[in-house]
Amino acid sequence: MKKVVLAYSGGLDTSCAIKWLKDKGHDVIAYIADVGQGDDFSKIKTRALKTGASKVYVEDLKREFVENYICPTLKAGAIYEGKYLLATALSRPIIAKYQVQIAHKENATAIAHGCTGKGNDQVRFEVTARLLDPSLKIIAPVRVWEFKTRDEEIDYAKKKHIPIDVTKKSPYSIDKNIYGMSIECGILEDPWVEPPEEIYQMTHSPMKAPDKPTYIEIEFEKGAPKKINGKFFSPLALLAKLNEVGGKNGVGRADVIENRLVGIKSREIYEAPAGTILHIAHQELEALVLDRETLHYKQSIAQKYAEMVYYGLWETPLKKQLDCHIAKTQERVTGTIRLKLYKGNCIPVGRKSPFSLYREELATYGKKDVFDQKLAEGFIKIWGMPY
Ligand code: ARG
Repeated sequence: MKKVVLAYSGGLDTSCAIKWLKDKGHDVIAYIADVGQGDDFSKIKTRALKTGASKVYVEDLKREFVENYICPTLKAGAIYEGKYLLATALSRPIIAKYQVQIAHKENATAIAHGCTGKGNDQVRFEVTARLLDPSLKIIAPVRVWEFKTRDEEIDYAKKKHIPIDVTKKSPYSIDKNIYGMSIECGILEDPWVEPPEEIYQMTHSPMKAPDKPTYIEIEFEKGAPKKINGKFFSPLALLAKLNEVGGKNGVGRADVIENRLVGIKSREIYEAPAGTILHIAHQELEALVLDRETLHYKQSIAQKYAEMVYYGLWETPLKKQLDCHIAKTQERVTGTIRLKLYKGNCIPVGRKSPFSLYREELATYGKKDVFDQKLAEGFIKIWGMPY
């Protein structure tokens, strides 16, 4: 029997995929990646075995995910189309990397995933896997199997005695990890409809958030967040903490119409409290410490970086080169940002850094002014000369 490593979530699609792959003559190894989705992994593991997997791997990828995927993206300031913090997109390359490793360990000849043929995730999984090992065959059951609708799939699951959660059958498609939630389908497919409050899991409604603002201070070292209110946190713990305070204050929701890689526009709702706070704080610190041209140049790179993450190009040469450039820009990004969280807003209210380029004696209109205004006349004449 040909061995295949399936990226398994425990949901309907990947559960049916185990059975479907077995029926097609495969020995199926289920691989569950823990990227902070908070699922009951022992339950999912049992389900995989009951459904016919010969072996199950549960890999805790949380730490590496935060340190090597989320942090670099934060330093890059990468946000897709100005709104999406890329939580789902970032998880795919790390999931694929470990999938390829398990395939090697198990001498498997193929890997499989449960993505549809309309989404971005299939691209991210497959491009990453092929960059890491082009000899592995890739199987995408959902793209090719015979079920036309979800109901047909549920019938198949029932016929084959696949344990599924019909009770908590949600009309939404949800992807979750430590960095954020992505929610689509159901009523959200009508872009005119306001998202119902019940879909949100990481954030309270801004309308129900505390009437008093929460102030927090975040300290960065070379672009990486290290402390909250003077207390050191590991990157993973820091993210969890900010998800909690941000979520309480209703910070980090986004309702987005986005351009997918496969050519269509889709509507998705996102929650990313910690990511939102960190991007705002990091950007505020860069405003203080980076010279004008570096700052402006970096903004164009941020957009490119976001596109590359979204397009599944994490393991490519250009993405790695951008990381080097960005790391260099972060040498000065050390300092503290004070923020006010209030009813869905995250507002920087104070900033300080040993590398600050702000000079009060140059900026002031008061007595301390040392700016020689007479010099401006010549500067302006020469500045405008080419035109
Ligand atoms: N649109 C997002 C992306 O392409 C999220 C995709 C997964 N969303 C979901 N609800 N299952 O990264």
